Amino acid sequence: MKRLIAGFSVRQKLLAVVLLLLVAIAVMVGFDLRNYRQSLISDMTTQADLLGRTTAPALTFDDSRVAQENLELLHYRPQIRAAAIYNARGKIFASYSNEVGREFPKLPEADGTRIEGNDLVLFKRIVDNREILGTVYLRANYELYDRLVGYLGIAAIVAALAMLVAYVLSRQLQHIITNPLLAIAEVAREVTEKRTFSLRAPKLSKDEIGMLAESFNTMLAEIERATRDLEASNEVLGREIAEHNRAEREILRLNAELERRVKERTAQLEYTNAELEAFCYSVSHDLRAPLRAIDGFGQALMEDFPKDVPQEAQRYLTRIRSSTQRMGQLIEDLLNLSRVSRGGLERRDADVSELARQVVNDLQIRDPQRKVDISVWDGMRANADSRLLRAALENLIGNAWKFSAKTDQPRIEIGSLSDDGRAVFYVRDNGAGFDMAYADKLFGAFQRLHSGNEYQGTGIGLATVQRIVHRHGGRIWADAKPGKGAAFYFTLESGGVENASRDMAEART
Ligand SMILES: Nc1ncnc2c1ncn2[C@@H]1O[C@H](COP(=O)(O)OP(=O)(O)O)[C@@H](O)[C@H]1O
Ligand SMILES: [Mg+2]
Repeated sequence: MKRLIAGFSVRQKLLAVVLLLLVAIAVMVGFDLRNYRQSLISDMTTQADLLGRTTAPALTFDDSRVAQENLELLHYRPQIRAAAIYNARGKIFASYSNEVGREFPKLPEADGTRIEGNDLVLFKRIVDNREILGTVYLRANYELYDRLVGYLGIAAIVAALAMLVAYVLSRQLQHIITNPLLAIAEVAREVTEKRTFSLRAPKLSKDEIGMLAESFNTMLAEIERATRDLEASNEVLGREIAEHNRAEREILRLNAELERRVKERTAQLEYTNAELEAFCYSVSHDLRAPLRAIDGFGQALMEDFPKDVPQEAQRYLTRIRSSTQRMGQLIEDLLNLSRVSRGGLERRDADVSELARQVVNDLQIRDPQRKVDISVWDGMRANADSRLLRAALENLIGNAWKFSAKTDQPRIEIGSLSDDGRAVFYVRDNGAGFDMAYADKLFGAFQRLHSGNEYQGTGIGLATVQRIVHRHGGRIWADAKPGKGAAFYFTLESGGVENASRDMAEART
């Protein structure tokens, strides 16, 4: 019901009120007309009674003049159009009418009332001491239609007035309520369409609608402020992003520049390095001939003049020869170190087990009296340059052979493990071992953990091995304990980032 009412416009609601008013008037009129009829009947009945009583003596004494006078008094009541008194025999005794030529009923009727056209007709017996003396006849103007017409007129006037009031009110309401609301709605529409939050709704009144307009404006002001803040922060953000982008571009530019310079320097370094290495190689190479000459002549001196060279001089000669031989070895090793960096890397499927066995075989031939328990795993293969791989194995197995020389039951194992699917080869012995604190030094050239008196060597072997492993993109590391032997592990292919960074750390040592 509420929803139904809410669906109507203010004008329609006012119209409904007017209609209701009319219905109320109709009900009231109906009620009044009913009342009027009853009161008219009772009034006329009383009048008839009164007439009957006042006329009863006249009837008794057959004095029609008094009866006539009584009837004449009725002219004070213009509503009564006609009246008559009938005697007991039903003859008209006296009569009255306020208009000319009125006819009266020929005979009286029984007590009662009825409506006849626009008149109320009433008959009433005159009874005295249970004797019927006559009958009163009254004809009164019913006035129903006049009344009804009057009422209708009033209703019409009321309705017209109400309509007028409703119209004026609705116009007024329109003015008071609808117009300000429409104005607010218009501003809201404009704001949403054009997003101009600076607009304000007009405050046309001080009532609730005025308050609504005020609240609406406050809200708009708040939105405007928030939007301005947002725009400002957006601008700041935009500037920051631009700055950030500029910085990023600058970093990229600097990076590119740096990279270019690094490349340039690397190229320079590589060039210088290559030159140095070439120089080193040729120097080492050229040193071999005079060294060989010194050694050869020393030997010749001792062999050709055994008697002429005194004992003391012979000992010196021996020392000269062993020093030249050591120097020769050093040069040989240095040349080997240079060689592993030169030339291309020819990766092929290599039989690691076979290469290891060959190296072991060579060692045993060179040093037949040594009894070493050597085990080489079968089926080890790698995608590698077999010339370089062999050189690496020579150094590693050679070290194991050398540093297990003073162990009771020397044992060497050459095998492989699998780390994340990649082969890790190892050479393990139960020889002298070393302190792991110096483990990272081993791979530098000329770095030795054992003295030359104990174990001979130049300290270039592991540097050579590391270079070979790195050329393959692999890495090498050691695990050892003094007196408990050592193990050297290496891979021959590049690993993940972690490995790469570890390799770099190792390469720096
Ligand atoms: N298997 C090993 N057992 C113990 N120490 C070793 C082993 N291999 C290498 N080393 C240590 O590493 C040093 C460097 O090795 P390397 O470069 O091959 O030089 P070299 O063999 O000429 O001494 C050795 O002097 C030694 O102290
Ligand atoms: Mg060595």
